[in-house]
Amino acid sequence: MNNDSSCRIVAALREWIAGSVPGARLPTSRTLVAEYGASPVTVQKALRTLVAQGLIETRPGAGTFVRAVRTARPLDYSWQTAAMRSPHSRLSALSPALREAPQGAIALHAGYPDRELLPERLIRSALARAARSDAALTRSAVAGLPELQSWFAHELGAATPVGVTPPLPSDVIVLPGSQSGLATIFRALVTAGQPLLMESPTYWGAIQAAAQAGVEVIPIPTGPDGPDPDELARAFQETGSRTFYAQPTYANPTGSQWSDAATTQILDVVRAHGAFLVEDDWAHDFGIDTDPRPVAARDDAGHVVYVRSLTKSVSPSIRIAAVIARGPARERILADRGAESMYVSGILQAAALDVLTQPGWQTHLRNLLRPQLRARRDLLLNSLRVHAPDAHIATVPAGGLNLWARLPDATNLDRLVADCEAAGVIIATGSGWFPAEPTGPFIRLNYSGPNPGAFADGARIIGRALTANL
Ligand SMILES: Cc1ncc(COP(=O)(O)O)c(C=O)c1O
Repeated sequence: MNNDSSCRIVAALREWIAGSVPGARLPTSRTLVAEYGASPVTVQKALRTLVAQGLIETRPGAGTFVRAVRTARPLDYSWQTAAMRSPHSRLSALSPALREAPQGAIALHAGYPDRELLPERLIRSALARAARSDAALTRSAVAGLPELQSWFAHELGAATPVGVTPPLPSDVIVLPGSQSGLATIFRALVTAGQPLLMESPTYWGAIQAAAQAGVEVIPIPTGPDGPDPDELARAFQETGSRTFYAQPTYANPTGSQWSDAATTQILDVVRAHGAFLVEDDWAHDFGIDTDPRPVAARDDAGHVVYVRSLTKSVSPSIRIAAVIARGPARERILADRGAESMYVSGILQAAALDVLTQPGWQTHLRNLLRPQLRARRDLLLNSLRVHAPDAHIATVPAGGLNLWARLPDATNLDRLVADCEAAGVIIATGSGWFPAEPTGPFIRLNYSGPNPGAFADGARIIGRALTANL
């Protein structure tokens, strides 16, 4: 089926409908097929779109007709404002990272890798096999498919040093993506109104999840080596918080990876305060110069609650993640998951497991993903150095998907974003990645998106817009 042809037919029929009276009968499907030189499937798709838009209606046996407009008056929803009162916590509008880019634009704002970086062949055959399996017809257990639980437990267990007890499959709870897992964890472990420590800057979605859970966020400044352990200790002491959310590996947005020494110190602080470290290992599969070193592998006392996502590396459409937690914390998280969504689609779990257990998966990570990410990162980095030298990148990320650039203090970020967009480059301001006031003007640039051949042009446009901005 051709999406472009169906859009073309929709556009033409909208014009035809605009010039018709309500109740007018549309030409038959057969006439439309001949008129637009399209297949019957494409014509049907266009008609379904117009039905969904409320412009036409089909009457079985009679044909398709222009809908009569039933309401000419503006609709009044103001009663809802009174009924709902003020929201418990005000969630901001969607992050710029989720914006759809206009066609042809150089998109450096998004958070997802180009589909060329996904294991497409493995995904398609895994989905076909999952569709034929029992998983297509049965309900999964709340904690997930046992074989997938085992896979997650085994993966973390393989990184666990001698002397530390590895996690069990029963410690694993499969999630429909880690985003909803974060909200669960904050609700379950922190509880509404209580303080949660978070690195700053940090993932905008974690800030949103904290707001959704109604917890009070306490920002802890973080640098290329992670947060200062003394500052973290002071924050635990002052606020009485018992939970710290962090990304020790290829953090979004800064790209930093905690050193071994920093990890040891931070774990000591967490243990000394009888606290949880919520480790968000979102970029585990995106190592470039180093390998990931999960902090959770060093803990068997239940201090580290480990969140591992497959969304961006397997497929954004097979949206599977897991949380590994031990002790009563695991029970509380599981209870929240049960109440929230009962279970995760078995067909998606089966497909994810299929991809992960194919020999081609490791080959894909090693031979395609890693070299591609390295080439794209270096290309964007070098292009910015040449064409936008005012965009200062303090950390060359050893993994992950993003560059985090500090701009001159006087930069007007809104104007910069608008000027870049007018010239065909979409960028995201860094402001949404700060739980409190931003400490300066930053932008986050994703090097894993489509069309790396346009990175040099993108950097040139950013450089020009920056110069004009100052
Ligand atoms: C740091 C971090 N955590 C979690 C997520 C959400 O992952 P998922 O798609 O598995 O919900 C993202 C997505 O961008 C992320 O960047």
